[in-house]
Amino acid sequence: MVRDDQRVPEVECAIHAKRLHRVYRKGRRFSRHRGSVVAVEDISFGVPRGTIFGMLGPNGAGKTTTIKMLSTLLIPTSGTATVGGYDVARDDRAVRRQLGVVLGGDRGLYGKLSARDNLVYFGTLYGMTKQSLRRRTGELLDLVNLRDRADERVEGYSRGMKQRLHLAKSLLHDPPILILDEPTIGLDPAAAVDMRAAIAALVPQHTVLLTTHDMHEANQLCREIAIVDQGRIVAQGSPRELKARVAAERRVVVSTRSPLDGHMPIVESQISRLPGVRGVTSAFCDGGGTELTILCGDTASTLDETLAVLRGFGAAVSAVRVVEPTLEDAFLAIAGRGFE
Ligand SMILES: Nc1ncnc2c1ncn2[C@@H]1O[C@H](COP(=O)(O)OP(=O)(O)O)[C@@H](O)[C@H]1O
Ligand SMILES: [Mg+2]
Repeated sequence: MVRDDQRVPEVECAIHAKRLHRVYRKGRRFSRHRGSVVAVEDISFGVPRGTIFGMLGPNGAGKTTTIKMLSTLLIPTSGTATVGGYDVARDDRAVRRQLGVVLGGDRGLYGKLSARDNLVYFGTLYGMTKQSLRRRTGELLDLVNLRDRADERVEGYSRGMKQRLHLAKSLLHDPPILILDEPTIGLDPAAAVDMRAAIAALVPQHTVLLTTHDMHEANQLCREIAIVDQGRIVAQGSPRELKARVAAERRVVVSTRSPLDGHMPIVESQISRLPGVRGVTSAFCDGGGTELTILCGDTASTLDETLAVLRGFGAAVSAVRVVEPTLEDAFLAIAGRGFE
């Protein structure tokens, strides 16, 4: 069996985690209530260069803890990881040069300064020269689509604009690798769309590791997704591969204009015997017709054959829906429970 961390050879990975493990101690020393929480339990994965990799999981799954270990903010209890080929525990300075990090939270920008002056200020801290800073801030403001508002004070920015400025700031020292912790959390839908556009534009020049609890976001942005739950990777693959694991969730839903009444049992039995059909249910629908829900492997052929059966009974079809499995279905099937 190929283990997930062996899907891509280590040398081709910008980030490589090997059995990362982190325990938090809880409660005060010598307290009766002292205990420990295993936040991350033996997590292994590789992020191929030039791609976006997503850690998808519910609250408390261990995403932020993993990211903090990779960005040298937290020491692993055990296990190792490399970023840009450098070990996160032994070469933390080299790792930080390779890495731009955007963690959640509002801190880290000066509200009284403009976006441009924020970037110039932090760039100067990094030791960048005036000339290279002028060029770089211009490029970055374009990349995150803030050029038009670059000279306004950041305190007047929307949350989405601040988040995009955080991204620009993390790119100042031109790191090849970016780590983003829930980059769109708390943004309104339109701001999230803009943020995702900025993230999508980072590859293939950069490698991106992001965490999210938004299935749609993971599906849209990530070449590869690790589904994490309770500190472990419970499944890993491309969005398509993960959804294919729940192929049984494919459904064809057909509504008829008038009720099938007496024909219903025979219609159901004929459909249930079609190749690839795993189950059929029927219900009265609002318009007075019947709604048939068919669980199947191949939605296209099942739809064709179902329509032929209904035609044979003279039933007029009023609506047809094909429901493909979503990442939500995949999570449900793999983790054995819903997401929230
Ligand atoms: N500083 C901390 N001290 C104790 N427990 C923590 C700390 N930070 C996180 N945890 C616990 O570790 C687990 C993983 O948390 P976290 O990595 O923040 O998950 P996520 O980012 O996926 O929501 C949770 O059970 C959380 O309560
Ligand atoms: Mg988190």
